Amino acid sequence: MNEFAKLEVDGKTYELPIIEGTENEKAIDISKLRGATEGVIAIDPGFKNTGSTKSAITFLDGEKGILRYRGYPIEQLADSASFLEVAYLIIYGELPTANEYKEFRASITNHTLVHEDMKQFFEAYPAKAHPMGVLASMVCSLSTFYPESLDQDRADDAKDLTIHRLIAKLPTLAAWSYKNAMRHPFMYPKNDLDYCENFLHMMFAMPTSEYQMDQTVVSALNKLLILHADHEQNCSTSTVRIVGSSHANLYASVSAGISALWGPLHGGANQAVIEMLEKIAADGGDVDKWVAKAKDKSDSFRLMGFGHRVYKNFDPRATIIKVACDNVLEKMGVDDPLLDIAKKLEKVALEDEYFKARNLYPNVDFYSGIIYKAIGIPTEMFTVMFSIGRLPGWIGQWKEMMENNEPIGRPRQIYTGANERDYVSIEKR
Ligand code: SDX
Repeated sequence: MNEFAKLEVDGKTYELPIIEGTENEKAIDISKLRGATEGVIAIDPGFKNTGSTKSAITFLDGEKGILRYRGYPIEQLADSASFLEVAYLIIYGELPTANEYKEFRASITNHTLVHEDMKQFFEAYPAKAHPMGVLASMVCSLSTFYPESLDQDRADDAKDLTIHRLIAKLPTLAAWSYKNAMRHPFMYPKNDLDYCENFLHMMFAMPTSEYQMDQTVVSALNKLLILHADHEQNCSTSTVRIVGSSHANLYASVSAGISALWGPLHGGANQAVIEMLEKIAADGGDVDKWVAKAKDKSDSFRLMGFGHRVYKNFDPRATIIKVACDNVLEKMGVDDPLLDIAKKLEKVALEDEYFKARNLYPNVDFYSGIIYKAIGIPTEMFTVMFSIGRLPGWIGQWKEMMENNEPIGRPRQIYTGANERDYVSIEKR
């Protein structure tokens, strides 16, 4: 392939370098475009055709349904790794040795407690507070308890402590946002439990009763968190990167990512899927009616959990989660009619020309809520679960951006407003 792309503007021809990644992806480098063309820029709302960076963390192929973290196929990691192993891999670039993993786990375990003063923040929220609003605020507030996290020039071990604190405390903050909404007493982390077990303990144990740990549930949660751990330059990760590019601290950058993930077009879709399935069930389960609504341009209804910006084939995560759904519900003896509706919806949609023509397939959010629901996690906590899973990706991408000294993100625009005009006093308007 040529090393340059030729561009002709106003009769002049420009050569723009073409760069190639390790998986043979190609990009036209337009970083010098405005200067070379004396002011002409490119524009691409939603960045559907524009790369924001080069990254060595996650590779996905939307046409072939491939997803790998640092080269390891998601299928293998979901089957064989622990979530903390995958977090280490995404953040530090390699799978940890036994000793590295032991040290990493110990550090995470020793930082799961949240400063006691933060408990007052929870009590100030109304019971109906959406946990994503609580979580975004709490994560940003960590920067006030650990002001050293604002120093971008601190030593690497201090940077690691900031990272480990966040990985360790997010499940505690998440579980406490749930306990606060239930007006139940907060449960403290226990150092003898692993990452997923600890979260389930803090969510469902009470001072008067232990949570009966079910390894089927623990394993399903571990798998779900791994499947959500990173996904290259999605909306929330791009948010973390652009906030971090101003050299805002990690906690503030991740807090912004949590807010971006909350949107129903992004991570909020897993909550929207269950609400959609419940609406269809309440309406009598007429799947064909709702698929028709999703196709009707005059109807704002969308099939939540369907479609994807980059997967124009199946989302490999949805394939794994669908199988896990059947296994977990069967092992738990849960018979959820919403799963039957979801499967019918998928079947009808995938046979429908509208969805086929637009390459709309189930995405990661379509089945994940069925498992969260079977575990007993309330619907409003589903996107909080997505946040816990995506945290290593947000951290890894923020760290990569900082280590590569990437410039502050500041897109250009094309102005379409009024041309120059003079001020008119209010009496004359
Ligand atoms: C996540 O980017 C990531 O990697 C995200 C994520 C991650 O891990 O970080 O994978 C997680 O966010 C998954 C997506 C969750 N969102 C949803 O499930 C919400 C429903 N899906 C959509 O709204 C939509 O599919 C998006 C937002 C996911 C993608 O939107 P795009 O790429 O901007 O595509 P589009 O909205 O321009 O749609 C293209 C066409 C349109 O029709 P036409 O104008 O061509 O006639 O497809 C239609 C859309 O109307 N369409 C849908 C649809 N999704 C797209 N029609 C009905 N139901 C849908 N769900």
